[in-house]
Amino acid sequence: MEKEILLKETEDFVKSVLEGDSSGHDWWHIHRVRNLALMIGKSVEADLFLVELAALLHDIDDWKLTGSAGDGQKALRWLKRCGIGEHDAARICGIIEGVSFKGAGVNTFTDILECRVLQDADRLDAIGAIGIARTFAYGGSRGRGIYDPSIPPEMHTNFENYKKSTAPTINHFYEKLLLLKDQMQTTMGRTLAEQRHDFMRQFLDQFYTEWNC
Ligand code: NI
Repeated sequence: MEKEILLKETEDFVKSVLEGDSSGHDWWHIHRVRNLALMIGKSVEADLFLVELAALLHDIDDWKLTGSAGDGQKALRWLKRCGIGEHDAARICGIIEGVSFKGAGVNTFTDILECRVLQDADRLDAIGAIGIARTFAYGGSRGRGIYDPSIPPEMHTNFENYKKSTAPTINHFYEKLLLLKDQMQTTMGRTLAEQRHDFMRQFLDQFYTEWNC
């Protein structure tokens, strides 16, 4: 299959899978991550075809949406259906596998260039104004409260505990979002993360000012 046709068909497939999502993992998240990933990918001379394909497919097996560990089965089945060879399909699934955040104390550093690019792009969409909107949308979709001063944030040292957390959404800023800036793996990712990080800090300051008035 021609690369352009493959990308377009993958886009349509992903849209159909994520249609109706209200947890912040809808098609527009994929769209933004793809654009960020292509921009970052260019800056480090990554394989842009792999980056784009992995960006399109990166959330269809996500544990937050499927309820199970991201085993990459949907993505793999799709790639095989498109006639992608075993080696390339495994490479793309490997990139996707390395993307997600697994807890404050869990190291997700990777030396696969395309994975570094996609990880930064996905994490940039988790912070800043859009990140704040998505975080509350996700919390609401899982029945989490907004804030409870009696429940302190927890630094999860393994993925299982991180997944099980039912803490209020404000805790998520400390357990994940504010940590992402220092985990960026590309120069462009680090630069873009700065402003988004500062905006979250401002948001939290304002939140507590209003809470305590
Ligand atoms: Ni994502």
